[in-house]
Amino acid sequence: MMAKDAKSRATGGFAAHFGAAPRWMASAPGRVNLIGEFTDYNGGFVLPIALDQRTAVAAAPNQSNRVTIRSEATGESDSIDLSEALKPDLRGRWTNYARGVLAGFCDIGAKLSGFDAFIASDVPVGAGLSSSAALEVAFATLLEGVSSTKLDPVAKALLCQKAEHTFARVPCGIMDPYIASLGREDHALLLDCQSNEAVWLPFADPAVSVLVINTNVKHHLAISAYAVRREECRAAAAFLGVTSLRAASSERLAELHERMDSTVVRRARHVISEIARTVQAAECIRNRDWAEFGQLIDASHDSLKGDYEVSCRELDGVVDIARGIGTSGGVFGCRMTGGGFGGCAVALIETARHQEIVERIDEDYRRLNPARLTFFTCRPGRGAELAEV
Ligand code: GLA
Repeated sequence: MMAKDAKSRATGGFAAHFGAAPRWMASAPGRVNLIGEFTDYNGGFVLPIALDQRTAVAAAPNQSNRVTIRSEATGESDSIDLSEALKPDLRGRWTNYARGVLAGFCDIGAKLSGFDAFIASDVPVGAGLSSSAALEVAFATLLEGVSSTKLDPVAKALLCQKAEHTFARVPCGIMDPYIASLGREDHALLLDCQSNEAVWLPFADPAVSVLVINTNVKHHLAISAYAVRREECRAAAAFLGVTSLRAASSERLAELHERMDSTVVRRARHVISEIARTVQAAECIRNRDWAEFGQLIDASHDSLKGDYEVSCRELDGVVDIARGIGTSGGVFGCRMTGGGFGGCAVALIETARHQEIVERIDEDYRRLNPARLTFFTCRPGRGAELAEV
C-alpha cells in the first residue's frame, strides 16, 4: 500500500482531531539548492528547485476569535487569541513559524477570524531542505484564503522571511520562502537576491537526476554559526566599501586581503566565487552541459568546506565517495546543500546509473559511519497552492 502524502494526512488528521471536514487545503514544498550557497543574504544568485515533498495545512473556520493549530509531527497544539498582540512562543517551538506569519498578515491589515488548522509534512526536518519555509509559506497561503487577501507571491516570500527573522530568530535570506512560494514543475529557479527577480530554467532532461543524500545528522552549531557568517560577510562588504558582497570583486579582495582579517577574507572569497559559479551553472542548465555543471558543484563544496567552513565530517564523507565514483561512474558532481553542519548533500547523476550509485555510496559510507544515509531523487515540483475542499 502507498504511504499517504502530507495532504491526505492533514485532511485525515483534521477530521480526527477537530471532528469536521476542513474547508481549505494549503501546501508548499521543501527545496534543494543546486548551487548558490550562502549567497542569498549577500545579494547574490541562488539556483534551487522545489521538491515533491510538501508541508500541508488543512483548516476550517471555527466561529471564534482563536486560532488552534495542531502539529502531526509533535502531537502538540497551540491556541492563539487573535484579539491579543502576537508574540513569539518563548519555548522556541514550531508554532513560531505560524505565529510569525499571522503577525505579518496583521501588519498588512488583513482581516482574520478564528480557525482550526492541522499541519502534516513530508519535508524532512533539520535536513537543510527548508522545512521551516515550507511551513511558513503553506501557512501564509492558508491565510490568503482565510482573510481573502491574495498576496503577490514575492511579497508573500518576504513576509515569511520576516516571520523567520522576528519569530524564529534566524537571520535567513530570501531563497527558501521564495522557491516555496514560486517553484515551478520541471524548472530550476535562478533567483537574483538583490532585485528579487527570477528566471525559470527548464530542467527536465530525463538523462540526468538530482540525487539528495541525507546524512541524518545535525550538529548543534548550525544556527549560531549562520548568524556569525552573516556578520563576517557584512564586515567584509564594509571593508571593501560595497553595500553587499554581490558588488565585490575577487580582484579588489586580492588587493586588500592583507589588511583584512583572514577569516573574513575566506568568507568573502567563498561568496564572491559562489556567485560567479551560480551564474555559470545557470548557463550549463541552458546548454545541458552536465559535466561542466558537475565541476561547478564540486568547486562549490570545496569552497564551502575550506573557506566558509560550514561542512562536517559526514557531508565530506558522502562527497568524497561520490567523487570517487566520478563522471565515469555517472556522478557529475556532489556537494553539501542548505545551511550546512549536517543535513543533505546533493549530487547530479546519470539517471541510468542511479541504482548502482546509491548502492555504492551507501555501502562505502557504512564502512566509515554508523549512522545510515537516506536517499531520494527529485524532479522540480510546484510552489505553494491553495484549494477549497
Ligand atoms: C539556509 C537559509 C537560506 C540560505 C541557506 C544557505 O537555508 O534559510 O536563506 O542562506 O541557508 O544558502
